[in-house]
Amino acid sequence: MTLLIRPWRGPARDRASATDRASAKGRAPTTDRTPTRGRAGAAASTDPLDVQAIRRHFAFPEHGRIVTNNAASTQPPRELLALQASLAPGYENVHRGQSSASRQMTAQFEASYDTIAEFIGAPGRSSVALYKNTTEAINAVMYSLLTEFRDGDNVVTTTMEHNSNYVPWYAMCREILPRLGRRVQYRLARFDPETGELDLAHLASLIDARTKLVGCTGASNFLGTRNPLAAVKALADASGYCQPNGERRSYLLVDAAQLVPGSFVDVRALDVDYLAFSFHKLLAPFGIGVLYGKEHLLASSLPFLYGGDMIAEGRVFPWQVDYNALPWKYAAGTPNILGAIVSAQAIRVLLDLALSPDRPAYFGTARPLGRAAVRTAMDRISCWNQQLTHRALAGLGAIGGITIYGPRDAARRTSLVAFNLADRDPVRVAEALNEAGVESRAGCHCATLAHHALGLTPPASCRLSFYLYNTPDEIDRAVAAVAAVAAGRPARQPIRQPAARPAPVSWPKITSAKLRSSSR
Ligand SMILES: Cc1ncc(COP(=O)(O)O)c(C=O)c1O
Repeated sequence: MTLLIRPWRGPARDRASATDRASAKGRAPTTDRTPTRGRAGAAASTDPLDVQAIRRHFAFPEHGRIVTNNAASTQPPRELLALQASLAPGYENVHRGQSSASRQMTAQFEASYDTIAEFIGAPGRSSVALYKNTTEAINAVMYSLLTEFRDGDNVVTTTMEHNSNYVPWYAMCREILPRLGRRVQYRLARFDPETGELDLAHLASLIDARTKLVGCTGASNFLGTRNPLAAVKALADASGYCQPNGERRSYLLVDAAQLVPGSFVDVRALDVDYLAFSFHKLLAPFGIGVLYGKEHLLASSLPFLYGGDMIAEGRVFPWQVDYNALPWKYAAGTPNILGAIVSAQAIRVLLDLALSPDRPAYFGTARPLGRAAVRTAMDRISCWNQQLTHRALAGLGAIGGITIYGPRDAARRTSLVAFNLADRDPVRVAEALNEAGVESRAGCHCATLAHHALGLTPPASCRLSFYLYNTPDEIDRAVAAVAAVAAGRPARQPIRQPAARPAPVSWPKITSAKLRSSSR
């Protein structure tokens, strides 16, 4: 059976403003001018993105939306939504049927693990576990390691964590382990309130020979700070903690929810033990989060969820249960099959958009992702994001009465800027921005500890966050809207763009056979 996956349909031409087009037509918004585009994966990594070509793959520009809340979730390109719909004719469960449909779905599902592993530089699918989001992935680490914590141990994390990488450890130390008669401490490393940088000396002072695990965000979703993971890793390595398998070091867990979507990440180069991220911040629809874990750790630790499919075929007895091979040991119950397939294809769309938006090389295939191509694509995205962030920092920084949080240098941060306006409620600011067509987020962004650490009452700020489809013009419009709110002027109403006619299909038809095996 060959399933026809609907072709790349109708990315309507985005009727961008003249400024938009001028600034985006192969030109970087600030100083980074680069050579012409080369073949996919072969061009210089500082090539600018062809942002207008990229935007034609998304629906939001047609609706006049200025989507600057990407740290919460990114927009899905049309291809991924169409792909999801196109899987309907072969809809079946995985690992649970002998029909061709089931076999094909299983092959596509399993191939998605390979794509994810290749994208982050993992040795293979055995070190990838899929959950529903970053939060669940981090909880999975906590529950897997729970029984290994000994009385008197500690876990060290930071005050710049998202609650997802603090509350599970708080709950383990304060609520779960005490009921089992074990006392385990959590310790929080602070950050410099002026610079937003992690206080490495303080972190070093907290890690000792009883530190089983260090948890650290790759990039803060409030301060924007990108943390020095190599330095954190060195501290974890030097602790001398005696792990059950004889290793003498603390494990390192990186919350990479804000890092992976816009940076080249190589888990082997970073040598992290665990790393988590969510696909809804990387173009995919909601529903899939990734836990990378070193294979020997996933092999030796207890699963987080128990039940069907995570057991070895036929190896369940009243007296004994044997677990399935990796990665299926961590896939209990029917998984989010379509979500996994579409999420892996989101990686492929991302690479194509960054490398050659008019000539897809990876989307709709199972073609291996070369490290060079991944690096080139992610470096381009990172470069673009950094330039947008630089522009936003410069524009916002000129507004009277504004306080911007985190590092001043865009190179030190991920692509978001959180701020407060003097005497303004950040939620009201975000609502006023929305009236101007600028989408933002106000609140504590689940970075509650960091807001408290800065003495913010209420613990809230307004945040703008950018991704590869944002243009310099959109940054300027967002900054102008913030300036208007700060000055007490009504922010300009958005000009709604008329619905545009779909552009001709530009990417070739793909088949489900290609998703499983093409060019492998
Ligand atoms: C740094 C960070 N960690 C964790 C999360 C939680 O992600 P999810 O909601 O997908 O579990 C987020 C989401 O905003 C985040 O920014």
